[in-house]
Amino acid sequence: MYEQVSHALLNDILDDLSHQVVREDLRHFYTRLGANFYAIHSLFEHLYGHREDFKEQITKLTERLARAYIDRPESLRSIDMEREENHNWFLSQEWTGMALYLDGFAGNLQGLTKRLSYLQELGVNMVHVMPILRCPQGASDGGYAVSDFRNIDPRAGSVDDISELTESMHKRGMLLTLDVVVNHTSNEHEWAQKACAGDKTYQDFYYVFPNRDVPDMFEETMPEIFPETAPGNFTWNEEMQKWVMTVFNNYQWDLNYSNPAVFIEMVDIVLFWANHGADVLRLDAVAFLWKKIGTTSQNEREAHLILQLLKDCCQVVAPGVLFIAEAIVAPSEIIKYFGEDAVIAKECEIAYNATFMALLWDAVATKNAKLLNQGIKSLPHKLDRATWLNYVRCHDDIGLGFDDADIRACDYDPYAHRHFLIKWFTGAFEGSPAHGRPFGVNPKTGDARISGALASLAGLEAALEANDQEAIDHAVSLILTMHGMIMSFGGIPLIWYGDEIGTLNDSSFLDDASKAGDTRWIHRPRIDWRRAERRLQQGTVEQRLFDGLKRMIAVRQSTPAFADFNNRELVDVSNPHLFVFLRTHPTMQTSSVLAAANFDANPQYLDLDELSHRGIFRYGLLQDIMTGDSPAIFNNRVIIPPFHFYWLANQRARSML
Ligand code: GLC
Ligand code: GLC
Repeated sequence: MYEQVSHALLNDILDDLSHQVVREDLRHFYTRLGANFYAIHSLFEHLYGHREDFKEQITKLTERLARAYIDRPESLRSIDMEREENHNWFLSQEWTGMALYLDGFAGNLQGLTKRLSYLQELGVNMVHVMPILRCPQGASDGGYAVSDFRNIDPRAGSVDDISELTESMHKRGMLLTLDVVVNHTSNEHEWAQKACAGDKTYQDFYYVFPNRDVPDMFEETMPEIFPETAPGNFTWNEEMQKWVMTVFNNYQWDLNYSNPAVFIEMVDIVLFWANHGADVLRLDAVAFLWKKIGTTSQNEREAHLILQLLKDCCQVVAPGVLFIAEAIVAPSEIIKYFGEDAVIAKECEIAYNATFMALLWDAVATKNAKLLNQGIKSLPHKLDRATWLNYVRCHDDIGLGFDDADIRACDYDPYAHRHFLIKWFTGAFEGSPAHGRPFGVNPKTGDARISGALASLAGLEAALEANDQEAIDHAVSLILTMHGMIMSFGGIPLIWYGDEIGTLNDSSFLDDASKAGDTRWIHRPRIDWRRAERRLQQGTVEQRLFDGLKRMIAVRQSTPAFADFNNRELVDVSNPHLFVFLRTHPTMQTSSVLAAANFDANPQYLDLDELSHRGIFRYGLLQDIMTGDSPAIFNNRVIIPPFHFYWLANQRARSML
């Protein structure tokens, strides 16, 4: 958009810049800057316009963008151009992700480069390497307390190793996802250290207070994120003799985005990793970016404006790079991280689908899909050109962040229902085979979350211990069914490393003082590669899971109806144990796929008469595209075995897919 004030300012800045960088070809940079500058200027003015140094700050921001563009390697610039041409590339069904801790999966970056063939064997082509930037030796929240945003932790390797990894990944057609921890730094970060030494400029990078007056006001409305290990949201710092805001652990200092210098530094860091070859950047804890007295200091409007500004800036320099929003918040809030009042994503193109994840677990515990159906029905409509990251487990706990109204609509009491789920997954409920642990228990509010490996939560651990073959079969089926749902829902499925071979809880974290208080470590395993070898041995649990997932990924890739163009329709069926949705093919209706999962321990039927109005599926010709078999049908009812799922398509249409 053309607007005089910002345009005049841009002319000034560019005049200045052209004296500094005469020889570089900045053509693409200028066009993109021209397109986005009005938005950048308005957002920056909205956030920082009241400051006397506003012009100086926006000039600095623009200069940093130009520098980052100049630094962007030619090979990445051409990827940007390719992705500009084919801008829906990430909505395709071709992508399947895996997230992993480097040390637990492969030791270090060089080790990961050697293990890429294992990921390729499975079909994974998007790898999220959990935080690898320099962090403290002891407790570091699994790397989410960063002490140097521009250096790789020596335990992981070097910046050269990253270049080697990205090169090898790009050759194999794989995408690299890296974290940028935008909300906070470690107390060992240079900025925090300077703040401790009394440097006012760096104290302004954080929320620092001389006494409890302001902290107490904040505490009135801010919830506690880690009530057991890090109660409260502020930490007393002896050196400064001041309180500092620490929403997560007491060694994670919250950055103060009301200071433009913080924003500019963080844009620079985002672009630094974009220029080092990251295809996707996971922005951690984005809901927390803006703090306001009298609120929970989550999901504030300004947090969204900061993300929009970050996106607008990144588009100027590295338009091919995508953002993932990690905002584990209420369903109605999550959706806003794609950007509101827009058609295409203007904040983050991808967001964690924490709602779907938690709802899947609800179906597991209740053995019915009532809340799952209700919750998905209430999930607000997603923008075009924005997509979900669908997952069953990740490095974090499972939060029961359902909408209370949805729980009530299923005739459950919200408090009692959540309580039941905690009991179920920690194995305290009669008949539950789950071996999870509570996390984030807050006696003041009665809240709790759940830790545990997928296989242990889904009953595989208990079944193996009891050597109960039927229970083993059920657990294997359930694990595959949960993945069948995230693979076909629409969005990018993200597998948690180790789940592909049924890795169980690992309690060794209890021996490490820096981890023992945080049960999330129980599901952050060290891969036992000898066990992984068993994937090659017919009939083992590892083989059934690995090959099941491998087949699913392959089928997903060849099924255009699984691409994410908002082409999903929930199907209301009368059987409460079933979760059923239709994925329509973008152009060929008859190539649609019906996904149907049974969360019950008994076979259940799907009444085809209830689907008849769709007229897409012709009875008797249905085929499960996972196996190529026709499902058992009795009296127009498809029989779905216990804990099983089908991807049903028209047999004839299959050949035309
Ligand atoms: C994110 C991470 C989580 C971490 C928190 C604080 O939510 O996923 O593991 O504890 O941020 O950095
Ligand atoms: C809270 C935060 C989320 C974080 C998690 C860690 O749910 O909202 O960002 O990952 O805590 O347990």
